[in-house]
Amino acid sequence: MACRRLFPPVLLAAALAALSVISSTGVAEAWWWDSLFPDHDDDEHRPPAFSSIVTPKLYGDMFPHKDDAACPAHNFYNYTPLARAAERFPAFGAEGDAATRRREVAAFLAQISHETTGGWATAPGGPFAWGLCFKEEINPPSNYCDATSTQWPCVAGKSYHGRGPIQLSWNFNYGPAGQALGFDGLGDPELVAGDPGVAFQTALWFWMTPRPPKPSCHDVMVGRYYPSADDVAANRTAGFGLTTNIINGGVECGPAGAPQAVADRIGFFKRYCAMLGVDTGPNLDCAQQKPY
Ligand SMILES: *[C@@H]1O[C@H](CO)[C@@H](O)[C@H](O)[C@H]1NC(C)=O
Repeated sequence: MACRRLFPPVLLAAALAALSVISSTGVAEAWWWDSLFPDHDDDEHRPPAFSSIVTPKLYGDMFPHKDDAACPAHNFYNYTPLARAAERFPAFGAEGDAATRRREVAAFLAQISHETTGGWATAPGGPFAWGLCFKEEINPPSNYCDATSTQWPCVAGKSYHGRGPIQLSWNFNYGPAGQALGFDGLGDPELVAGDPGVAFQTALWFWMTPRPPKPSCHDVMVGRYYPSADDVAANRTAGFGLTTNIINGGVECGPAGAPQAVADRIGFFKRYCAMLGVDTGPNLDCAQQKPY
């Protein structure tokens, strides 16, 4: 959510020559689910939505560099904590037809990939093979404390800079995220970059939760977005570009936005849609949209 920095070229030195190979679409099967989570409820023979759309193998193909030593988040963003976090949000990847569900998952993975990217133009495997490389904002310009947010008062000495897959930022996001998920977001923001389960939960919480006048990214991607007159006047039309507007539109959308950042988000989205065998749908960018 915080502004992006470009990845330092030092990664080049450590870059591996191996390129990732795009896999075919993962097919829902229960055998691997049972072996991953032997204690899960046997009445549910089908794996939850996310896990049936993105298998561990496909996840590995989508994020071939996340565990490289050069990535500060190496060994943090494992499949299991993501699958577990998704179980807390059963509507994620579970609404609409098969294409809609896959497209929503692709959009979520694209947005968290841009937020955590270690990619650069000539990176091995391409710039979009480097999602989930960072877990914490580098050199935050401030502690992201909005003192006018009296409902979510900052704790002295704590910093609310970008952490986790969605780069959760600001006290007014850490507070409600913690309240919804059951941790002390204001007093213990470090947990978001310390516990992979909490990290993924904050990203899904952000994705699934409307913040009026903003709809949730989830509702936008599953066709449950009903634009107000203001939204219509602002060209805020459903599509991947609107999720970018929700996440960081004040910086990236509209004529004074950041087209390169928006293009990076779209690049990840196109790659994951291809891997999931689904089209991207319309309105990928937000250059014509007014920010909220
Ligand atoms: C809406 O989009 C059109 C082009 O499709 C553009 O001319 C107009 O300025 C946009 N309106 C806003 C409020 O951004």
